Amino acid sequence: MAAEADSDPRPEPGQPLRLRRLLPAGEPVTVPETVEQLGLWDRRAQGSERQRVLLNMVSTVDGRATLGGRSAPLSGRADREMFHGLRSAVDAVLVGAGTVRMERYGRIIHEESVRRMRRDRGLGEEPLACIVSGRLALEPDIPLLAEPKAKVVILTSSQATLPATAAEVEYVRAERDGRLDLPGALTQLRERFGVQVLLCEGGPHLSLQLFAAGLVDELLLSLSPRLAGGEAASGEALRILGGPELDPPLSLEILGALECESDLFLRYGVSEGVSAARPSEASRGVSTAVPGVDASG
Ligand SMILES: NC(=O)c1ccc[n+]([C@@H]2O[C@H](COP(=O)([O-])OP(=O)(O)OC[C@H]3O[C@@H](n4cnc5c(N)ncnc54)[C@H](OP(=O)(O)O)[C@@H]3O)[C@@H](O)[C@H]2O)c1
Repeated sequence: MAAEADSDPRPEPGQPLRLRRLLPAGEPVTVPETVEQLGLWDRRAQGSERQRVLLNMVSTVDGRATLGGRSAPLSGRADREMFHGLRSAVDAVLVGAGTVRMERYGRIIHEESVRRMRRDRGLGEEPLACIVSGRLALEPDIPLLAEPKAKVVILTSSQATLPATAAEVEYVRAERDGRLDLPGALTQLRERFGVQVLLCEGGPHLSLQLFAAGLVDELLLSLSPRLAGGEAASGEALRILGGPELDPPLSLEILGALECESDLFLRYGVSEGVSAARPSEASRGVSTAVPGVDASG
């Protein structure tokens, strides 16, 4: 019975959540221990190589990325803790403007103790908040933009600027053939802002483009113990990737699995050579443009 008690993930009141280690099997771990084990605090010597890019997303068991247009209803407390834990150790958080608008993004690090820990471990107080946008249709009252201490970088092919915001806003302008050059933008994030570990939080349309461009190293998929149904065609049943089909499909390799309160945390490596995957011929007839993105910037 002692062994069972040891692996019981339910925390004592005031204690951190413990997640069962399914793969590789082992003792339960807390979220901060998981972040350590992922090596997110490690920084490699600055070289010419691209930064490490992780994509963190949540989905129901039947593949839905939103309920009622939001991802929050999919998240249990372990997922919320993981979401914030991952943020605690990265240089920048990357997100599409659609998600910023829909989720009303706020300051990246909420807790002063986490900001202090980052300072103590040699990082800036908060990760840079990087927003991908073509139209720059971002209202200044979005909590992140209304936060005077926030540092925001807009990745765009446009020459436009946002109206004045309380947050400090800088621009990474990278354009190729009239569209955002994502690899070029990530290179600028590394060279200008020292971003070595980048955490992308979606949304689905940005995520698909990152995969298609071969820019994702690891997918951290939180599988929420829910079934929701819904018709993909209605737009309501968004999955974690939005846009044209990838052909061939990307191959992933399972690197780890944790469980807590029926939430599964799956860590996948993106196999070598996946950058060959591109939006399929069949879907090229369909617009590959992101909704609302003006290709001319
Ligand atoms: N389940 C999850 O883990 C998860 C995670 C994140 C979001 N979500 C949900 O996903 C929904 C939003 O989905 P989404 O796919 O529309 O959001 P998204 O990928 O965050 O945002 C799409 C927007 O990002 C900008 N964008 C993306 N690629 C671009 C490019 N190549 N060039 C220029 N701009 C580009 C455009 O912004 P502009 O319109 O400003 O030009 C575009 O409209 C929300 O309901 C959110 O709750 C779920």
